Amino acid sequence: MKPKILVTRATFDDVIAKLRERFEVEDNQKDDAPWSTEEFRRRLADKDGVLPTGSDRVDAATLDAAPRLKAVCNIAVGYNNIDLAACSERGILATNTPGVLDDTTADMTWALLMAAARRVAEAERWLRAGNWKGWKNDQFLGVDVHHATLGIIGMGRIGRAIARRAKGFSMRILYHNRRRVPKAVEKQLGAKYVSMEKLLKESDFISLNMPYSPEVHHLIGAAQLAHMKPTAVIVNAARGGIIDDAALVQALKERRIAAAGLDVFEGEPKFNPGFLEVDNVALVPHIGSATRATRTSMAMLASKNLSAALSGRRPPNLLNPEAWPKRRR
Ligand code: GLV
Repeated sequence: MKPKILVTRATFDDVIAKLRERFEVEDNQKDDAPWSTEEFRRRLADKDGVLPTGSDRVDAATLDAAPRLKAVCNIAVGYNNIDLAACSERGILATNTPGVLDDTTADMTWALLMAAARRVAEAERWLRAGNWKGWKNDQFLGVDVHHATLGIIGMGRIGRAIARRAKGFSMRILYHNRRRVPKAVEKQLGAKYVSMEKLLKESDFISLNMPYSPEVHHLIGAAQLAHMKPTAVIVNAARGGIIDDAALVQALKERRIAAAGLDVFEGEPKFNPGFLEVDNVALVPHIGSATRATRTSMAMLASKNLSAALSGRRPPNLLNPEAWPKRRR
């Protein structure tokens, strides 16, 4: 008998077809409506594995509703939606999809950075509203990206991909990270390790690139925004909650920084309505990894993790190795 799996949200049909070769699949292809907690738990009750997205909460109570569950294979690199400790306690393997979305997410970070710097979204809204009566010397003056200073907070895979792109813009690159990266990597990227305070003070552009954890909750709040230049632009394509959104709205309103570019929000899909009242922010709805190629690679990698877990092999992207010795069989 094939193992039973649940795919919580619609994905590409070819991904589902591939999964069906090995598993009995329950999917959400038709409606793609997010399930209520109760419905998610009910559907999970007889499953051996699940492929959730980053917006499906997999907590202890949900795991308790799934006595046969052996693996939770997120179709996302971030995994703050999964209670890892609860998985480990129950011998359930958890995995994510690192690596395959780095360049795509770095591209989106750059799209937001450029849009915020050169006021692309704001100018388009103005043009669409029929305001354009003629050319003006000081129309939508922005800030230069080239030769400016980029401050990267979080120099992991995505941070490095962002730094590589910055070289093409002849930027000075500063970074801050929990741990300094190897000297050879610094050299290759042309990036200088500095304190958080120096980075905030000296950067023209700041990009946040780390997973969400309680330790980085409101890493950027009123105090950090106050350290930034009045011409600075901040970009977050990492996770909601790393920036204190209320403090950012206030700083943007008072023009204490120039602009922001945001792909992620506290409490998304709801977000602070103050962002809609300010023009100096470019907003997109959590689409950092949203290209067909990358979303396919993410789903395929999650499937590979699941196949390994359900056939007794150690999944390549295991997040909780402590669960391996006591895994459910
Ligand atoms: C997207 O946000 C991801 O974590 O993959």
